[in-house]
Amino acid sequence: MTSSQAASSARWVVPLVDVLVDDELRSLVDEVVDSGWWSMGPRVGEFEAAFAELTHTTHAFAVANGTAALHLALLAAGCGPGDEVILPSLNFVAAANAIGHTGATPVFCDIVGTDDLNLDPADLEAAVTPATKAVLLLHYGGFPCDIAAVRALAAERGLIVIEDAAHAPGASWHGEPCGSLGSVGCFSFFSNKNLPVGEGGMIVTDDDDLAERLRLLRSHGMTTLTWEKHRGHAASYDVVAQGFNYRLDEIRAAIGLRQLSRLPEENAQRRAIAATYRDRLADVEDISMPFGAVADGTTTAQHLFVLPRARLTSAPSPDRGNRSAHHHLAALRAHDGRAGRPRCPRPQRDAPGRLDTLREARRDQFSKRPLAVLLDDLAVELDSAALT
Ligand SMILES: Cc1ncc(COP(=O)(O)O)c(C=O)c1O
Repeated sequence: MTSSQAASSARWVVPLVDVLVDDELRSLVDEVVDSGWWSMGPRVGEFEAAFAELTHTTHAFAVANGTAALHLALLAAGCGPGDEVILPSLNFVAAANAIGHTGATPVFCDIVGTDDLNLDPADLEAAVTPATKAVLLLHYGGFPCDIAAVRALAAERGLIVIEDAAHAPGASWHGEPCGSLGSVGCFSFFSNKNLPVGEGGMIVTDDDDLAERLRLLRSHGMTTLTWEKHRGHAASYDVVAQGFNYRLDEIRAAIGLRQLSRLPEENAQRRAIAATYRDRLADVEDISMPFGAVADGTTTAQHLFVLPRARLTSAPSPDRGNRSAHHHLAALRAHDGRAGRPRCPRPQRDAPGRLDTLREARRDQFSKRPLAVLLDDLAVELDSAALT
């Protein structure tokens, strides 16, 4: 380990990523390698079927990553130049990028506040214009957003609802799984996610027309997969759309299937660990802990445990030209190029008590597999000018 690696690893209090590697996982990967067929094939099909089951949907498409999932979902929904797509401002940059790549314009709406980091339905409504085509909502940190309000608005204004469920595999709203709450749902299997594969993503939908477009767009608009030809089930193919190569491979599908089987147990562990954090941090001054009261009927995937800075608790401004701190925070994330970079909690000379509390909380945790924690309070290097 170099000294800079040592210095940076010393700053971590709670790891952002901690994947479980065991012999079963290794043997599943070996099996694929030994099979001699590594590109999209039967394991991808199995992974898709299992994911459709998890999300209670009729179609699931495995793709190369969560950003590809968002891009394809937006394209399949018909988003393009001249359209506006509304997304919550507290977000990862992938959603705004994916919207931009379709030619549509990302339009940010605010979040509810520091207790609820999901989109504010009232601000969503205020952001709708005649050009609005879709809402790309996010279940922030694995907590389902207020889908009832979004659905009502979407029905009234003719909007397509796309879910960024990257944080929310296994989460649900009144028994309906996240990913199935709108027209099309997108997941990410990046290493820090609840279902870590390295890279990978999934798109789910009940809509047959969307499904057909997704199927074509994922693989160059080709009517037949190479796997079909490999098995001798097809001799040729046609190209009927301008698509992409956003396919997933067999090795990742095998890992994904294994991770999916562990998801319910691991999500339960995350919830239990979060409860421990909540308990141990209850007396710490100057922090707030969002999503304290999980909305009735919702099950969280508890992807993140977020501690916003106290100074972000200012009330949102009603003036759209001078948006709230939440908006600035997210706009910064979406556009400053640093968005989404893993944040290392670093000791703060003025707040040793907080770190000690966190260390203690971690020491006491009863699982080998820690919760991925976004320690905004200690870790995000915010430009204070952007928050005024
Ligand atoms: C909320 C959210 N959406 C989308 C993505 C993009 O997923 P991927 O990294 O798999 O492209 C991520 C993160 O990685 C994310 O956190």
